Amino acid sequence: MADQTTTLRSRRSCLATPGSNPRFLAKAKGLDADQVFLDLEDSVAPIAKVDARKNIVAALNEGGWGTKLRVVRVNDWTTEWTYADVIEVVAGAGANLDCIMLPKVQTAEQVVALDLLLTQLEKVHGYEPGRIGIEAQIENALGLTNVNAIATASPRVETIIFGPADFMASINMKSLVVGEQPPGYDVGDAYHYILMQILMAARAHGKQAIDGPYLQIKDVDGFRRVAGRSAALGFDGKWVLHPDQIAAANEVYSPRQEDYDHSENILDAYDHYTSAAGGARGAVMLGDEMIDEASRKMALVVSAKGRAAGM
Ligand code: GLV
Ligand code: MG
Repeated sequence: MADQTTTLRSRRSCLATPGSNPRFLAKAKGLDADQVFLDLEDSVAPIAKVDARKNIVAALNEGGWGTKLRVVRVNDWTTEWTYADVIEVVAGAGANLDCIMLPKVQTAEQVVALDLLLTQLEKVHGYEPGRIGIEAQIENALGLTNVNAIATASPRVETIIFGPADFMASINMKSLVVGEQPPGYDVGDAYHYILMQILMAARAHGKQAIDGPYLQIKDVDGFRRVAGRSAALGFDGKWVLHPDQIAAANEVYSPRQEDYDHSENILDAYDHYTSAAGGARGAVMLGDEMIDEASRKMALVVSAKGRAAGM
């Protein structure tokens, strides 16, 4: 049963790498991102897609990815490429692959279709059943209205990802700058509703919530500002498009050291005082702060993120 302490693998920084560029694929191995996703979708031109599949299989099988999560983004089900993307990548490198990312997911059935295909491929190639996870990108209004069904469509679903660029285009948002507020909207954060819908679906079903790209890659302060908003709400990580964004994402989506230290103190104090009282006390004092079972739950979230970040 899902709860708010999601224990899936760390995904503070998710590095996008075009599958059509072997030099970028090789370089990505040495970078400090928690996850790398090798792309067959929008960063790869239609004429380059078939060769990109081969590059990706070779890069995965060559190894050298360290502890990074290895993900491949296939094309969405409305194109002509999806099934062959999945078959070629999983048949060729399924043992060296953690998740398939499915873009522009609109319905639960699209996730089920990918699940069935993965299940057959696992049988044919003798892979461990159910090991390959699914990351679902929400990139349009229909996907957002179905986000709960998408999150629960398959036990393989590990993350729900916000795809801001496609989303902005799909709802006719009057802006061309991803992540920044549309000109003329001066009453709050235009992304808040979308981010919260995704976060609620993720948390309700024990999935991770991941924020999408920030395209002004030279503006690391802008990246930090936009990442800081989704991190403050509770998102687990964000896409990074450039090496300079990696350290910023790893920092922004980790707890601050003082919050991590405080969370460990709360857990120690709560255990100590409640067991000293023979389980008879629900609320205890930690210095001037009253802590109870809800404080323990908040502390568990922060300490789990801190431990995953190696704090
Ligand atoms: C990512 O795929 C986006 O559309 O923002
Ligand atoms: Mg997109």
